[in-house]
Amino acid sequence: MINLNRSRKIFLNIYPDEDLADKVEFFIKSNKKKVNFFLVFCKHERWETTLKQEPMMKLALVYCFLPVVYDKYKKKNIGDEVFYDTMTDIKIWIDDHKARTNEDGLFELNWIMHHMNMNIFKIGRLQYQKCIWYFKPVKTKDGVKLNFGDKILNMHIPRGEKLDYDECVKSVDMAKDFFKEYFPEFPNNKYMCFSWLLYPGNKNFMPENSNILKFQSMFEIVVEKEEPQPPYLWLYGVKLKNADLMKNKRETGSYGFIDQLPQKSSLQKSTVEYIKNGGTLGEGIGVIIK
Ligand SMILES: CC(C)(COP(=O)(O)OP(=O)(O)OC[C@H]1O[C@@H](n2cnc3c(N)ncnc32)[C@H](O)[C@@H]1OP(=O)(O)O)[C@@H](O)C(=O)NCCC(=O)NCCS
Repeated sequence: MINLNRSRKIFLNIYPDEDLADKVEFFIKSNKKKVNFFLVFCKHERWETTLKQEPMMKLALVYCFLPVVYDKYKKKNIGDEVFYDTMTDIKIWIDDHKARTNEDGLFELNWIMHHMNMNIFKIGRLQYQKCIWYFKPVKTKDGVKLNFGDKILNMHIPRGEKLDYDECVKSVDMAKDFFKEYFPEFPNNKYMCFSWLLYPGNKNFMPENSNILKFQSMFEIVVEKEEPQPPYLWLYGVKLKNADLMKNKRETGSYGFIDQLPQKSSLQKSTVEYIKNGGTLGEGIGVIIK
């Protein structure tokens, strides 16, 4: 099933770097037997079996698999724009891997496998994942009940662009049409987002006109929890354990690890001050019924 010519063409539209394409192809040719072995699992949407492989193997599998996903998009008549927008995430995570390790490869196949399985689509500014409500039942202000296991579109926010409010509103409108047209069996009126961006306490340290707070205003927040680990990761790029941050706060009054936090943007700076003063960070789950 490997067709390196087709893979290369698609990959270069996502990641225009001939040298990287050469390196990946060299890896594939040198590890052909193993790559072919894992591709059988991928074809059956069993990407979990590949998740312990080295980052270059993960990238090689995605590289080989791109024509398969592309053909599935074509079969459903989904246009190139959505395909390439969705796959830009591969670039984001190759770059993330490079920034962290200075090596070529891909860690986040546990995430990119959803793109390969056609469960996630980027539509306009935001991504939408066919998902289920995997929390305790909740009732929204409008009286809509979400039960464990109900189908719902799970929204994700890729980095790389500002979170412009109008673009986000437009994206949800487009998503509604997209799922109606291409996945009519999947409800297109329920949306959720589980993110540090939706923690209601963010208003204690973010400016009122910030994109993050405006984005939050699109949702009804139905669950909130103190959880400093995600904002430490997404805002500062540092991977720390929640338990360690919470322990610090109990013992010293602040989550700490300040010396590991870069302070380039205004939000990074203001959040450091907030953390030093014992501020609380967390996550929220928001829903949109539309
Ligand atoms: C979501 C995101 C695009 C919002 O960025 P934004 O549109 O700039 O948001 P705001 O207008 O609220 O922020 C304004 C300021 O905060 C900074 N800022 C916002 N998010 C930041 C982040 N994740 N890391 C560092 N700085 C950030 C901006 O650079 C800007 O700083 P400046 O005044 O020095 O220019 C950004 O946070 C991001 O890329 N996050 C990574 C992806 C993510 O968090 N996904 C959700 C995972 S659950």
